[in-house]
Amino acid sequence: MRIEFVAADAALGAGAAIAVLAHEGGALSAQAQALDAASGGALTRAIASGRFTGAKGQSLEVLAPSGVEAARILVVGAGKAEELDAQGIENAAASAYRAVQSSGGKELLISFPSEPARAAFGVRLGAYRFDRYRTTEKADKKPSIETVRIAAEDVAAAQGAFEPLSAVADAVTFSRDLVSEPANILHPVEFARRVKELERLGLSVEILGEKEMADLGMGSLLGVGQGSVRESQLVVIQWKGAADPDAQPIAFVGKGVCFDTGGISIKPADGMEDMKWDMGGAAAVAGLMHALAGRKAKANVVGILGLVENMPDGAAQRPGDIVTSMSGQTIEVINTDAEGRLVLADALWYCQDRFKPKFMVDLATLTGAIIISLGNDYAGLFSNNDELSRNLLNAGQAEGEPLWRLPIPPQYEKQIESMAADMKNVGTRAGGSITAALFLQKFVNGLPWAHLDIAGVAWKKPSTVPTIPDGAVGFGVRLLNRMVQDAYEG
Ligand code: BES
Ligand code: MN
Ligand code: ZN
Repeated sequence: MRIEFVAADAALGAGAAIAVLAHEGGALSAQAQALDAASGGALTRAIASGRFTGAKGQSLEVLAPSGVEAARILVVGAGKAEELDAQGIENAAASAYRAVQSSGGKELLISFPSEPARAAFGVRLGAYRFDRYRTTEKADKKPSIETVRIAAEDVAAAQGAFEPLSAVADAVTFSRDLVSEPANILHPVEFARRVKELERLGLSVEILGEKEMADLGMGSLLGVGQGSVRESQLVVIQWKGAADPDAQPIAFVGKGVCFDTGGISIKPADGMEDMKWDMGGAAAVAGLMHALAGRKAKANVVGILGLVENMPDGAAQRPGDIVTSMSGQTIEVINTDAEGRLVLADALWYCQDRFKPKFMVDLATLTGAIIISLGNDYAGLFSNNDELSRNLLNAGQAEGEPLWRLPIPPQYEKQIESMAADMKNVGTRAGGSITAALFLQKFVNGLPWAHLDIAGVAWKKPSTVPTIPDGAVGFGVRLLNRMVQDAYEG
């Protein structure tokens, strides 16, 4: 599917659909009014015949109206006119595209009152499909739209505004593909290889294997992967876009458990297939770096991915094992299914030890408990720093990837005291996401840090927004990109 910006009075191809907006109360946008007039009031009559009110999420289709060129007119509800924002435009454009995606028509013209670049962004995100492994598909399910034209008052300006957004859409797509790939294909070595390919964008990518990690003393991360035939990998991605390439960077760390069986503390069979996306944190960080390079962000940023596969095996780590992390702290592994924190412990320590960043943010599908707390729309935010938290909360709000901050009270640390080592890797069921965050904090040496528990939001089925098709969300790419842009560039 191709997207192009066209002048507002551009001609339509044969069989084209055209999408326009209506607002709460049924008020038509200027573009919709013009079509209504040309069709002898077809839109007003169609609206009067049913329950369409112009509320967000509604849409109405008018087929082959006489007097207009378009074969179908889609009236998309956009809510109250005065509340229409960038996200509203994205969602309306995405739902227009999805309404005609496999209609059989080849062309869609989106004719909205403002922000054509945002409409294009919404279409790109909403058009995402993971269809690499389909060799047959019912004809009526195949996308038919080949060209989406977006009307713009100033075509060149729209193209200019879309450029950085297009880089973000590419990055979200990259991230969603990683999350969607099954674990037989996307194991740690393959994940690292795909990230290495991003050097074409100007990123530098280093890959550490098990030998290098053993030399660094990463016993915590390595213990998780030791039952897998796939080699664990630590990927270090750097983007140096600041005026001074040696200026102190900011850093992001992702949990990349390519498959989480639970290990010897094995998970139940039901739903275990979901654990192919237990690398959503690493996919978000990789996607962020893709976005920053794609739009040539003016910031120095480090991305670190801890990539492992958590498998039961004769060589696998056992409950009760004690491992020594790179920090020197020892950990009693009570439950091999609490593996994400073990991976992050060494990845976080390595990150601050080597890069001394201004702050670190980690992203991880860390706990089932965060889904019990916050459901599937909000990710959990844990942080030792109010300013960093504020920047993250604001960026999440602005990009439709909201966060909710939770406490990390020191009195809960008792839960992870061990009889035999410096700590153990699980507490009780009570406050499970909090004790996980407290565990991570032991590997943060005083600098500002935030942890995003994205277990509830990395994957959505069913999805609730038109810009996110069912499945991989790519959660975190938009949020982190926005945070870097708003708070750390310039
Ligand atoms: N990857 C899981 C967390 C998870 C659960 C993500 C459901 C997405 C959906 C994590 O490694 C895990 O297994 N956590 C355990 C921790 C427990 C053993 C303390 C959990 O949440 O049950
Ligand atoms: Mn687990
Ligand atoms: Zn996990």
